[in-house]
Amino acid sequence: MANVVVVGAQWGDEGKGKIVDWLSERADVIARFQGGHNAGHTLVVEGVTYKLHALPSGVVRGGKLSVIGNGVVLDPWHLMNEIETIRAQGVTISPETLMIAENTPLILPFHGELDRARESQNSVAKIGTTGRGIGPAYEDKVGRRVIRVADLADDATLELRVDRALVHHNALRNGLGLTPIDRDGLLAQLREIAPKVLEYAAPVWKVLDEKRKAGKRILFEGAQGALLDIDFGTYPFVTSSNVIAGQAATGTGIGPGAIDFVLGIVKAYTTRVGEGPFPTELLDEDGQRLGERGHEFGTTTGRKRRCGWFDATLVRQTCVTSGVTGIALTKLDVLDGFETLKICTGYELDGEVLDYLPTAADRQARCVPVYEEMPGWSESTEGARSWADLPAEAIKYVRRVEELIGAPVALLSTSPKREDTILVRDPFAD
Ligand code: GDP
Ligand code: IMO
Ligand code: MG
Repeated sequence: MANVVVVGAQWGDEGKGKIVDWLSERADVIARFQGGHNAGHTLVVEGVTYKLHALPSGVVRGGKLSVIGNGVVLDPWHLMNEIETIRAQGVTISPETLMIAENTPLILPFHGELDRARESQNSVAKIGTTGRGIGPAYEDKVGRRVIRVADLADDATLELRVDRALVHHNALRNGLGLTPIDRDGLLAQLREIAPKVLEYAAPVWKVLDEKRKAGKRILFEGAQGALLDIDFGTYPFVTSSNVIAGQAATGTGIGPGAIDFVLGIVKAYTTRVGEGPFPTELLDEDGQRLGERGHEFGTTTGRKRRCGWFDATLVRQTCVTSGVTGIALTKLDVLDGFETLKICTGYELDGEVLDYLPTAADRQARCVPVYEEMPGWSESTEGARSWADLPAEAIKYVRRVEELIGAPVALLSTSPKREDTILVRDPFAD
């Protein structure tokens, strides 16, 4: 049975939520493997819009098992609120349909405070984070002082873990001019939330193994995008986790051999939220038009997303680092009505043409995109459900994208709605 990993191939917000929801019809288990509630995944199903942050996008379909893997950082208070919000939209969520890995690190209130305090310190340190405490929680994980889901089950362990974290954090807070953490208050908050979280706790690695052995199909749902990857992204303007497909294995506890298909989600143009290099960024009318037509405002923070032309150089690169088998090309409809479209095929730097984005920040900043132009189309592609519904120029654009990035289109998306999706090659049939 095929297992599929879905990853963002740009700077996030490529439309992963919509595609995961669409694919989840064919899957039995949907698992998140990194990131946290910095993610914002939008689904539009039968006229209802769902905005998911911590919950896997598979929850909206009944009868599936949704899993939060150990690679995620989890804010338990946020999760409980999100469960309530989504339940209020008529979705069933119970320990039968949602599991949280026992070894998942928790985001605590002081992680968010630290994140926001750093972001407001000075412009040199600013990343433009979502302020959700993601970075500080991952720092504590590798610093071996994070509190994990399993620690909530035993009060003596919990106290020990809290004390371990506070030694570090109180020293740090002192330096930043923040008040010390109220130990007893924090413990009380944790004791109160513990039973609510533990209801969903499970040895996820074991459950996934049993599912695989029973012939079930697993869909791994990535958050963010490969250019925000802690190792391969535009460092330091990245998130604090590995985002690329290899993380699906370590972030849930399956072996790398269990992954059969990697689906890269690719927007037909480029967007980014927050600071950092963006070679094809458009600060002109075209950029504004992409933002307006694409409703490019963050699902999590409401911030305006920066917009630019499609950068084939970057996507070719992220298809390699994630081992992409095929892509889902989304938001093609947003390009309707442009007379001419530009695609970046490489960068000019110091008199040379590069076919990849260099690693050094100063070199990245000096990269000048090399563009090729393609004719646009005046017809509407919105809601197209077959190749036959697409104008010839749109098909040419898609074919050129495939050629330049070195990966075939498996799915095409032409509106936010679940059903406005063209299937070219079924990832689960591989
Ligand atoms: P994610 O973070 O990758 O899940 O993406 P977001 O949900 O943050 O942003 C993608 C936005 O584009 C959402 O508002 C989706 O409803 C919307 N969307 C997804 N696919 C398409 C598409 O093919 N066309 C249009 N116009 N909108 C889409
Ligand atoms: P989805 O899953 C787009 C960006 C933030 C910031 C950087 C670091 O919806 O695609 P963080 O809070 O993670 O420490 O912020 O990463 N970022 C995203 N941008 N989509 C996302 O998620 C993002 N998650 C984080 O804007 O630049
Ligand atoms: Mg998003």
